[in-house]
Amino acid sequence: MDTRLIAQNPAEVETDCLVAFALDHGTKEKSEPRLTVKDAALEKAVADLVASGEVTGKAYETVLLHRPQGLKAKRLLVVGAGKGKTFSHAEVRRAAGSALRCLKPKMIKSCAIVLPELATGAEDAVRSIIEGALVADFDPDTYRSDRKDYSMKEITVAAPAGSDQGKLQQALTQGRIIGESQNFTRELVNEPSNKLTPTMLADRAKKMCDSVGLKCELMGPAKIREMKMGAFWSVAQGSEEEPRLIVMRYEPEGAPEKPVLGLVGKGVTFDTGGISIKPADGMEKMKYDMAGGAAMIGAMRAIAMLKPKVKVIGIVCATENMPSGTAQKPGDVQIAMSGKSIEIINTDAEGRLVLADGLFYARTLGCTHLIDAATLTGACVVALGHANAGVFANDEDAYQHFTRALQRSGEKFWRLPLDQEYLDQIRSNIADLMNTGGRYGGASTAAVFLKEFVEDTPWLHLDIAGTAWMDENKSWIAKGPSGIAVRSLVEFVRSFE
Ligand code: BES
Ligand code: MN
Ligand code: ZN
Repeated sequence: MDTRLIAQNPAEVETDCLVAFALDHGTKEKSEPRLTVKDAALEKAVADLVASGEVTGKAYETVLLHRPQGLKAKRLLVVGAGKGKTFSHAEVRRAAGSALRCLKPKMIKSCAIVLPELATGAEDAVRSIIEGALVADFDPDTYRSDRKDYSMKEITVAAPAGSDQGKLQQALTQGRIIGESQNFTRELVNEPSNKLTPTMLADRAKKMCDSVGLKCELMGPAKIREMKMGAFWSVAQGSEEEPRLIVMRYEPEGAPEKPVLGLVGKGVTFDTGGISIKPADGMEKMKYDMAGGAAMIGAMRAIAMLKPKVKVIGIVCATENMPSGTAQKPGDVQIAMSGKSIEIINTDAEGRLVLADGLFYARTLGCTHLIDAATLTGACVVALGHANAGVFANDEDAYQHFTRALQRSGEKFWRLPLDQEYLDQIRSNIADLMNTGGRYGGASTAAVFLKEFVEDTPWLHLDIAGTAWMDENKSWIAKGPSGIAVRSLVEFVRSFE
């Protein structure tokens, strides 16, 4: 999809379809739709639609008009963007996405979106339009032989005549990098496990790194064992497929020695549960158990292209979790890279095992701050559903950086607790820790398990089990892999600049 910026008033824009957003400034009883820009020609063009009640401003409603009077555009699409009071860049993303997903099946291949007036500024609006549009352009039907190319050829952002092009162009480029990186992650997450083994995931990461100038190191079974990553290896040992430890380095010139940010992702390309095998029903979904790792790979891509002046190391622990004659068994005791011993209670709690070594390894590489992302627990899905991902933090300053990142990314995370009591639930009689802590508080017992391996290093843990895969289409995004966390990770890194 090509993206471009023009500075032209709506009436003058020649396009297959001009897109304008409408907000509802009314009350609960009566809607009062108003466009997000003050423009006489546009207002006139939509006057009849407003008078008839077809345009209300209700979130993501779409009304398409042919040959709009007084405009050069062939069509006009009015997209609702919700209540005037709550209008923010998050709604801009969704409204832009809804516009694209409305036009795509009609085989309309180019459109121009009228830049809305946004309290946080025009740059924020441009960036959000492009991010939302790119995300909406993605379809997950990769392997369908009747796949139709619905993708948009070109999207134009129409800023008012006379606006500062330089700044807005920069915002457009940034939105493009971030949106494409999120889609890169979604492509990886969408792949079935036979098309994306740990080796293939590592090769895709390497190829991406080569194309954007990142250093990338891939390590296999011998190195993983040599480094005494006993927790990571205990999961990998059950599979015919070799595991890979993926290390991506971003070391820009002129960056200070510190901080060094470590981004660690769970890359379980398929999670059968292992010997503690999962039920057959829904198991096919466990191809997305590498979504945390894929988020790190996508984020590293964006970081390499945006070039913030801060050092970042991306680490992905890629493996399958399989039952076999060589698989680990409940009751086994494993020694992690840190030296801590772990009694395996349930082989299906494998994510924390691979991350324990991934996080500890990141510290040995000199990371001063850590953030991990993982489809870690069903308990997090029970607690937060699909609307919010979970976030855990052992450090208030790092958490502040993350909340600032969320304000820019528009993604939703909810903080969950990491208290000492949860640690008591995972103490073992035979070893330092057990890898599960019973029925209750499962998202937190998993998180405190990880905390034992990061110790005092400032750290954030993102549990994206409920948000990395969406079962239903939304007007602004197709069902399937969501690419959650990519945008927030990028903004988190930039917050240290
Ligand atoms: N990958 C799963 C968690 C998961 C569940 C991801 C649902 C996406 C959707 C993880 O490895 C797992 O199996 N966790 C277990 C832990 C339990 C055995 C303590 C779980 O949540 O049931
Ligand atoms: Mn599991
Ligand atoms: Zn898993």
